[in-house]
Amino acid sequence: MQATLRATALAATLCLSAFGVQAVTLKISCGAVGLEFQLCKEESDAWAQKTGNEVQVINAPNDSNERLALYQQILGSGSDKIDIYQIDVVWPGLLASHLIDLKPYTKGAEKEHFPAIVANNTVGDKLVAMPWFTDAGLLFYRKDLLEKYKVSPPTTWDALAAAAKKIQDGERAAGNPKMWGFVWQGRAYEGLSCNATEWLASFGGGAIVETNGKVSVNNANAIKALQTAASWVGTITPKAVLNYAEEDSRGVFQSGNAVFLRNWPYVWALAHKPDSQIAGKVGVMPLPAGGTGGRSAATLGGWQLSVSKYSKNQAIAADLVNYLVSAAVQKDRAIKASYNPTLPALYKDADVMKANPFMAELGSTFAAAVSRPSTVTAAQYNQVSNLFWNAAHDVLSGKTKAPQAVADLDKQLNKLAPADKWN
Ligand code: GLC
Repeated sequence: MQATLRATALAATLCLSAFGVQAVTLKISCGAVGLEFQLCKEESDAWAQKTGNEVQVINAPNDSNERLALYQQILGSGSDKIDIYQIDVVWPGLLASHLIDLKPYTKGAEKEHFPAIVANNTVGDKLVAMPWFTDAGLLFYRKDLLEKYKVSPPTTWDALAAAAKKIQDGERAAGNPKMWGFVWQGRAYEGLSCNATEWLASFGGGAIVETNGKVSVNNANAIKALQTAASWVGTITPKAVLNYAEEDSRGVFQSGNAVFLRNWPYVWALAHKPDSQIAGKVGVMPLPAGGTGGRSAATLGGWQLSVSKYSKNQAIAADLVNYLVSAAVQKDRAIKASYNPTLPALYKDADVMKANPFMAELGSTFAAAVSRPSTVTAAQYNQVSNLFWNAAHDVLSGKTKAPQAVADLDKQLNKLAPADKWN
């Protein structure tokens, strides 16, 4: 196998040299949440073997905002240290000035992807990123435990809290002192902004900064949403959640010590791997709705691929991007690791649907996912989110009461907004 791969690579290199093209070494920065890093490496290696080039996969911090800080440092210095960046759905407006327009290289392939994501990735008339995978917040639960305690899958936060408490108490009494009702992402980082965006939207508490540029966070429903989440901490949720990101919360759930988990679709594949302690025992559903008049809300997430304008090999880097976002690679990633494709056609693919029935069943959850205010606040999105996650964290930890936290946040955001307001 190795020998065949080497022979293919050699043939490709010879072929490149015959056309007078020099093989290059590209550097791509990929995430490492779940199977991300492993898959990015395998897929990049496959392209390298096919084309005779080399790819180095560079590891970046898992927390989205830490990754952004690193990228901004590298791009801000005009460095060509990284050719291809994996960028978050909330970053196109922040990073556009450092990224090339991919349109001249895609042969129109972006038309095959979800138009809303392509629109999100288009800044001015530049297509600064190609969609790679999309996601939205989901509620994972232990089917076996809900059945054992005769509890139905909860459709409101109150029902979730009651179910979590009942099962947590029962399982602890039955000999698992480590059991918790509900785990999620409560660390002061971008992931908490995603969780808290869901709480606010589910209670009808708005989107922090609305699409018309108005700061809306200081309202009674937002207060209720944050108070509800704070009431979970220490009762159905371990206090340690205040330092949990995606993988910490998945770890607790996958080792069998939580009834409910809020996380992204990638958890599905990992929870069902043969070595998972909860294989076959997991269900997934939309997140619960808030109080009276509330609705289920999922934050829209997802990742794209961009080429740095400081790259010395932009055309060849764009070729690797085209390969990675292609239907064949997205199909493989969906089957192996439950990354939701950004190509609508793959939602009709029998293999993808068999591996991930939830992708079709929860279609409306994905379609109605709530955006963070990244388009309207563009270059200031990270500051907006930073203020929001700190305010939410202060309420969760008991440092600040919710009414005070949203009043302070409202002032800070209005101060940050440009004189003519966002938009
Ligand atoms: C997931 C989402 C991304 C979000 C991040 C927060 O990776 O895809 O959009 O910013 O989680 O932790």
